[in-house]
Amino acid sequence: MLFDHELAWKDPSIYREIYANSIASPEKFWEYHCSKLFPEQVFNASFNCLDRNVKKNPNKTAIVWYGDEYCERREITYIKLLEMTQKIASELIRRGIRKGDSVTICMPMIPESIAAMLACCRVGAVHNVVFSGFSSAALSERIFRSSSKVVITVTTSSRGGKIIPLLKNVLNAINDMNVEVLLADYVDDFSLDERAICYADMKYNDTMFTLYTSGSTKEPKRIFHTCGGYQLYSAMTFKYIFDIKEDDVHFCTSDIGWITGHSYITYAPLFFGLKLVIFSGTPMYPNGGRYWEIIDDEKVTILYSAPTAIRCLASLGDEQLNRYNLSSLRVLGCVGEPMNESAWQWYFENIGKKRCPIMDTWWQTETGGIILAPLHNIEYQKPCFASKPFFGIIPGIENDELIIKNKNWPGLSSNFSKNDGEIYHTGDKAMIDNDGDFRILGRIDDVVNICGHRLGTSEVESVVNTLGEIEESAAIGIPHRIKGQVLCIFVTTTTDLTDEQKKSVTEEISSRIRQDIGAIAKPDRVVFIHELPKTRSGKIKRNILKAIGESKGVISYNGKDLDSVINPACIKDIEKSIKYAIRV
Ligand code: PRX
Repeated sequence: MLFDHELAWKDPSIYREIYANSIASPEKFWEYHCSKLFPEQVFNASFNCLDRNVKKNPNKTAIVWYGDEYCERREITYIKLLEMTQKIASELIRRGIRKGDSVTICMPMIPESIAAMLACCRVGAVHNVVFSGFSSAALSERIFRSSSKVVITVTTSSRGGKIIPLLKNVLNAINDMNVEVLLADYVDDFSLDERAICYADMKYNDTMFTLYTSGSTKEPKRIFHTCGGYQLYSAMTFKYIFDIKEDDVHFCTSDIGWITGHSYITYAPLFFGLKLVIFSGTPMYPNGGRYWEIIDDEKVTILYSAPTAIRCLASLGDEQLNRYNLSSLRVLGCVGEPMNESAWQWYFENIGKKRCPIMDTWWQTETGGIILAPLHNIEYQKPCFASKPFFGIIPGIENDELIIKNKNWPGLSSNFSKNDGEIYHTGDKAMIDNDGDFRILGRIDDVVNICGHRLGTSEVESVVNTLGEIEESAAIGIPHRIKGQVLCIFVTTTTDLTDEQKKSVTEEISSRIRQDIGAIAKPDRVVFIHELPKTRSGKIKRNILKAIGESKGVISYNGKDLDSVINPACIKDIEKSIKYAIRV
C-alpha cells in the first residue's frame, strides 16, 4: 500500500493511489503517519515544536519578526524560543496554572505570543487566543466563558502606525473577574522555574486549545482541538500541500488570533523546524511594498496570505513590487474567503511569475487544517478552485452545500461527534466540475466573511438591537471589490426618524458595534426601512435583502420567494430605501 511519497501532492496518479488507500483503510493510514511523525509518541506540542528541534539544531532561526516600522526586525533561534517558552511557563506555574486550566492570550504578532502559546502547551494548559483587535467587551465575554485564570498580554502594540493599548483593554475586560494578568513584555526578566524545564504529559485526546469563531447564533462558538489529532492533521497537511523542505522560509500573513495562525504560523511550521517570518504590521504601512521587501530580504520560499490582502496589493499597481526580487518564492497560498479571477491571475503572474502553484486552500476553524487544495502541477492550475480533498477526506455536495461525508479525520474539532450523524455540514456553497475539482462560492448560512474574518450576522444584530431607537435589524454581507464582503444593516425603528436622526443613529450603531465586537465588524452602510421581509413563521427573508443589497433587484427572484413573504409590499419600500442607505 502506498501511504507516503514525495510526489504525493504533485503527480495525479500517485495522489489518487494514496487518496484511495486513505479512504479504504483510514485507521491504517493515520496510524502509519502518526507513528512516523511522532516516533516518541509524545503529544505535547511544546516538546514537538521546540525540544525536538533544539536537540537537532539549537541555533537555527525559528522566527524572524518584522515590526510595524521599517527598522524593526528581530531574530529568535530555536534555543531562544525554548528559553522564552520555559520562562513564560514558569510564570504560569507560579500562578498555579496546571494541566487542563484555561489561559487566554491576547497578543499581537510578536515572537512572545508564539512563546506564550507554546508555554501553555508546555504546562498542559488550554490556550484560548483572542484576536487582539477585538474590543474589551468581546474580550471580556471570551475570557469569562473560557473560565481563564490568567490572561497573557503586552502593554501596547502598534499596527499600521496606530498604537493599541492592549493592557488597558485587558484590564477593562477583566474588570472584577478573578483573573491574573501576565505581561509578556518582560519575558527576559522572568526567572526559570525548574518545573518548566519538563513538559506536561499530554495524551492523544487531551484538549490542546480552544478558539472562538462565529456561527449563526448570537454567541461566538467555542471550538476545541485535541493534542494528537490536531498536530497530526496540521503537520500532515502542511508537509504535503506546501511541499515543505528543511530550508524553507515560511511567511504566513495571518494572525495568531485565527486558526490559520495556530496551524500554519505556529504549530505545523515549528513542528518541522522551519524558519518562520512573522509580521506585526499591515501590508499597506507605510507603503504597499512591505510584503515584497520582507520576501526579498528573507528569501521567503512559501507565502501564505489572504484574498483581501492580495486584492488590495494588486490594486496598487506594480511600482513597489518591481523594486524587489521575489525569485525565492516556490509555493503561494491563500485562505479565508473566495478568490476572484483577476486577483488570482495577478498573484499567479506577478508574484509567482507563473512558476509557483497557488494553493487556494479551503478549510475552517472546526476542521483543524486544510481540507481542499489544488495539486502542485503548474499546467493544471484552475483559478479560484480549491480543487482536491486532502487524504482521508470525502467531500460532496448536498443542496449546493459543501459537505464532508466522513468525520474520522484527525483534525476535526472534538465538538463534533459521530452521534450527530456521519456528515459534517460546512455552511459553504460549492460546486464540483467534471474533473472532480471543487470551487467554493461563499457561505450559505447567516455568516459573512469580511476581509476573511468570519462574522455571525446575528452577533451583529444583537448589538444593533440594544439601541433604544431600533425595533429590528437584519445584517447581510454584500460584495466588495477589495474586502470580499462588507456589512449592510437593514433596520426598522420604533418611531419615524428625520434624516439628521438617521445619521446619528447610524453613527451610534457603528460605535456600539466597535465597542461590543471590534472594528472588524464595522458596517459599511445602514438602510432605514419600515418593515423587514418575513415569512409567516417570522423568519427574515435574507435572500431578498441580499438581492436588493447587491442591487440585483427582486426581479431575478422567483415567485416562490416572494409568495412566502407575508407582506410583499414591503419589498418596494426596501428597494426605494436602499438608494438612501447611509454610509458609515
Ligand atoms: O466560508 C469559508 C471561508 O472561511 C470560512 C472559515 O472561516 P474560519 O473558520 O475563520 O477559518 C478561516 C481560515 C481557515 C469557511 O467556511 N474560507 C476559508 N478558506 C476559503 C474560504 N472561502 C473560499 N475559499 C477558500 N479557500
